[in-house]
Amino acid sequence: MGTAGSLGESLVIEQLNKTYRVSTGDVPALQEINLTIGEREFVSIVGSSGCGKSTLLRIIAGLENGYAGTVKLGDRRIAGPGLDRGMVFQEHRLIPWLTVEQNVAFGLNGRAPGENERLVREHLELVGLSSFAKAHPHQLSGGMAQRVAIARALVNQPKLLLLDEPFGALDALTKIQMQQEILRIWEAERTTMVLVTHDIDEAIYLGDRVVIMSSRPGTVKKIMAVDLTRPRDRSSYEFIQIRKGIYAEFFAEAEKPFAYAI
Ligand SMILES: Nc1ncnc2c1ncn2[C@@H]1O[C@H](COP(=O)(O)OP(=O)(O)O)[C@@H](O)[C@H]1O
Ligand SMILES: [Mg+2]
Repeated sequence: MGTAGSLGESLVIEQLNKTYRVSTGDVPALQEINLTIGEREFVSIVGSSGCGKSTLLRIIAGLENGYAGTVKLGDRRIAGPGLDRGMVFQEHRLIPWLTVEQNVAFGLNGRAPGENERLVREHLELVGLSSFAKAHPHQLSGGMAQRVAIARALVNQPKLLLLDEPFGALDALTKIQMQQEILRIWEAERTTMVLVTHDIDEAIYLGDRVVIMSSRPGTVKKIMAVDLTRPRDRSSYEFIQIRKGIYAEFFAEAEKPFAYAI
């Protein structure tokens, strides 16, 4: 469970550099990122604000125009959005005047009508919201709205799900429930997952590996393997040792002038 699969649909990032050009000059966002994520792997990414985590996910999603280096999913170079990738943001980004099922169907592309209905039904079931199919977003709790966003991102059955701080705005208990949910979905769907989070425990609880990024410019500082069976116990000795190791990296980072402490 959770080990990297074949190289067939790996995400391969090599020598990735991204600079934003703004009126005041160049903003180097990412520098020499090298990272390979195996098929069906779950990778967490942590790092202080502004270190380029969202930029990295947006490039993988195909939402940034232009980068230097290689970003490939399987043998396909990423040059724009595609059905092989889904994304979930911190805000649910649901369309307020559409029902839950219409919001999920909104992500569907180029399928026969009967199949569309089946896929929407299956994905609402997957996130436990079948009975809310006709509800509107304002009738949902924050956790439920994020479940809909996850169903919408998975409805095309992508190879890769990108999650940008998806539980960052949820209360502590809902967040823990959602972490268990995403694990269940990962095991059921066998989708490769890349999760950006501010929450170090969440990163360790979920990831096969935790990528620690460093800022100004954004680089990969360290990658830690989380070699613990699931479900993981946040109070176990091994879990706490990994947490200590990650905090140590952050404290080293915070000593750099102007860096953000966590
Ligand atoms: N569209 C943009 N234009 C200019 N600069 C940007 C843009 N998006 C992000 N940046 C800059 O790139 C850096 C990385 O941002 P971001 O990827 O959002 O970081 P994170 O998600 O880790 O907080 C920051 O310095 C940010 O200000
Ligand atoms: Mg961000």
